[in-house]
Amino acid sequence: MEADSMTMAIVAAFLVSLPVLYRLLFASAGNKTSRKALPPGSFGLPVVGHTLSLLRALRANTAEDWLRRRAAAYGPVSRLSLFRYRTAFLVGPSANRFVFTSPALTTMNSEAFSRMVGRRTVRDVVGDEHARVRAMMVQFLRLDAVKRHVAGMDAEVQRHLDSHWRGRGSVAVMPSMKTLTFDVMSTVLFGLGMSRDGADVRRELSAEFQQLVQGIWAVPLNLPFTRFSRCLAASRRGRRAVAGVIEERRAKLEQGESSPADDIITHMLSKGLPDEEITDNVMFLMVAAHDTTAALITFLLRHLDANKDAYAKVLQEQEEIARRKAAGEALSWDDLCRMRYTWAAAMETLRMVPPAFSMLRKALQDVEYGGYVIPKGWQVMYSTNMTHWSPAIFPDPGRFDPARFEDPSAIPPYGFVPFGGGARICPGNEFAKVETLVTVHHIVTRFRWKLAAGCDGSFSRSPIPYPSQGLLIDIEPIDHGNTSR
Ligand code: HEM
Ligand SMILES: *[C@@H]1O[C@H](CO)[C@@H](O)[C@H](O)[C@H]1NC(C)=O
Repeated sequence: MEADSMTMAIVAAFLVSLPVLYRLLFASAGNKTSRKALPPGSFGLPVVGHTLSLLRALRANTAEDWLRRRAAAYGPVSRLSLFRYRTAFLVGPSANRFVFTSPALTTMNSEAFSRMVGRRTVRDVVGDEHARVRAMMVQFLRLDAVKRHVAGMDAEVQRHLDSHWRGRGSVAVMPSMKTLTFDVMSTVLFGLGMSRDGADVRRELSAEFQQLVQGIWAVPLNLPFTRFSRCLAASRRGRRAVAGVIEERRAKLEQGESSPADDIITHMLSKGLPDEEITDNVMFLMVAAHDTTAALITFLLRHLDANKDAYAKVLQEQEEIARRKAAGEALSWDDLCRMRYTWAAAMETLRMVPPAFSMLRKALQDVEYGGYVIPKGWQVMYSTNMTHWSPAIFPDPGRFDPARFEDPSAIPPYGFVPFGGGARICPGNEFAKVETLVTVHHIVTRFRWKLAAGCDGSFSRSPIPYPSQGLLIDIEPIDHGNTSR
């Protein structure tokens, strides 16, 4: 009796669970997704979708509120329409992990970016092809390569401060740092700067790229007087200049006057990368390497001005390093290793003002996330800044506190993503770090600064953060007495 009812119960349980078992066993991946719902939300207006609304918000620096409102209304997975793509917008560290590591997603650039920079950049290739092109860049960007350039960067930074800061009463920081980072990159990665020719090409390219970067997230309408048409014209001139450099490098390589280790272009030529791909990748690197780092240094100075405790610690750290150097002696790798607090302050700046708003992905196939299906061909977007301003990850997120980064292991995985993550993580992060530390060392030990009257430190995004008035500061040289360096 007892046993019978037991059997009955088991049979009944079995029958009840049959539909579940059936689904587990037989519902294949193929049609499983079609039963899942699309993320909640809306696609907005026909054609323009949410593009104009988000771009306006970026310029007004309210994009954060814009995204926050969507997340509040629809939850951590929602849909919208951006740059004519149906887009899934994901929020939170586990969403970031999905974006950076899911094999169902690949990188994509905005249409405006592709038309200006090219469609065969490192971000447009996948699998082995991606690994091959990335390796050519990493050859010049990995730590031991960057270490060899500390002294070269040091010279470039000092030259820049001598000609753009010394003797002046005020400086617009962002334009100055854009010129500096462009020059450093041109010299170190592309060998433009050793000769008089190099310096000329560099100046020409720098002007074109200042224009070009403003169109990265523009509406790609090539009509007279649009922002995009101006940027596209600049990119065409930039491409011609880059193509000229490639020709000159090829001639040198063929005549045995150069070696693949000299610069990225010669290296790519020696690996047989087609010319158009070299041009696209050089264009890409020139965009990727200069504005981002310029924004980091600029906003670091901004935060140090507003946070005197942090400034005092940075100053002390840097002066201690300066005291160990002989007059005119360049910084070394060992010196940079002693800049721990300064780098924590830079990380805190990357947290509060991440240069990259969001990097776009595209679904290669239907893929599920958070209980919803993201159909093949959709764009996927996350938010760096929303992650970095999440009180669950960084308590009291509005407070500038470099101490958060004194123990980086305390930060949850994918909770701090200024450089992205996964196989596509920024390969230029060591380069950016060294460049930032060298620059901050010389600025902090040579000048005192404060925001100029009328400059409030506010900023807009396009999508790189750009401070109003370029962050205009009043500067004053620091008198080192007899120990002048
Ligand atoms: C503070 C400075 C910088 C920031 C915040 C930054 C940020 C980023 C981010 C977020 C990505 C995308 C990762 C992804 O899609 O998951 C990226 C990619 C990339 N960055 Fe940077 N970057 C910086 C400096 C640099 C520099 C100095 C270089 C080169 C010298 C560089 C070269 C690249 C390249 C080549 C990629 C594409 C990698 C790939 O698709 O495999 N970046 N960067
Ligand atoms: C990041 O979000 C905060 C809080 O919403 C906002 O005040 C800030 O302007 C945003 N910063 C950037 C760089 O988007």
